[in-house]
Amino acid sequence: MWAARLLSVSNLTVRYGGYLALDGVSIEVPTGEVVCVLGSNGSGKSTLLNAISGLAESTGTITFRGTSLRGVPTHERLGRGLAHVLERRRLFPYMTVHENLLLGAYLPKLRRDRARAIARVEALFPILHARRGQLAHSLSGGEQQQVAIARALMSNPQCIMLDEPFLGLSPRMVLEISAVIRAINRAGVTVLFNEQSLQHSLELSHRGYILESGRLAISGTSAELLADARLRRIYMGLEKATTAPAVEGTQAP
Ligand SMILES: Nc1ncnc2c1ncn2[C@@H]1O[C@H](COP(=O)(O)OP(=O)(O)OP(=O)(O)O)[C@@H](O)[C@H]1O
Ligand SMILES: [Mg+2]
Repeated sequence: MWAARLLSVSNLTVRYGGYLALDGVSIEVPTGEVVCVLGSNGSGKSTLLNAISGLAESTGTITFRGTSLRGVPTHERLGRGLAHVLERRRLFPYMTVHENLLLGAYLPKLRRDRARAIARVEALFPILHARRGQLAHSLSGGEQQQVAIARALMSNPQCIMLDEPFLGLSPRMVLEISAVIRAINRAGVTVLFNEQSLQHSLELSHRGYILESGRLAISGTSAELLADARLRRIYMGLEKATTAPAVEGTQAP
């Protein structure tokens, strides 16, 4: 049985001019899970998250908390509990850590709770308190990723989308950010992230979707996908996914 679906994407298609970047993609993100979207460079991972948050125009259906997001502007999607950490973090480099965090709660209805929100994210990332006066550009890559995630959490979202959260990080920092993702999820936030690395991402998630050239190639629970030797060959480019049967997950691990 599927758990209740927090986010549901059906037949999503994105075109950039004449280029078909996403072709009829459908994914389900059950409440309380960690879900990953995997694929190589240019497979459409960022396009999928950008379409979900309204940054890329799409056709198809996106349903969040039972309501269609068609025509809903990006800032209102955030207001409804859907936060998005963009690829490469996009911090304001010449603002301090504290100022960057405050900008995560710029919506009027969030402003009065900003002090409490800051305390909440600083408890999750103690380093942010220690570095609150430091300019964002002078932080290490891993520290910047923490600020980017914390800034998104300032809106107290029900679902957070992370675009390549491990990009360019050292193995130690990958473990640290993974621990943060687990902690956020334990605290009740549903997580949708995209990545290129298969093994680590699946170990961190309940289920995964593999994109290939803008199309969904394979999906399933992470346990199923980790046990699928054929998937590795497809992922390494040794075999075409279009000839492989889709593995449909029905149970969270
Ligand atoms: N704004 C845009 N205008 C035109 N083409 C775009 C635009 N954004 C993305 N594309 C193209 O769409 C395809 C999918 O891009 P996307 O950024 O979604 O891939 P990705 O899987 O996130 O790749 P990466 O792993 O490198 O981040 C690529 O071929 C890219 O060149
Ligand atoms: Mg990308």
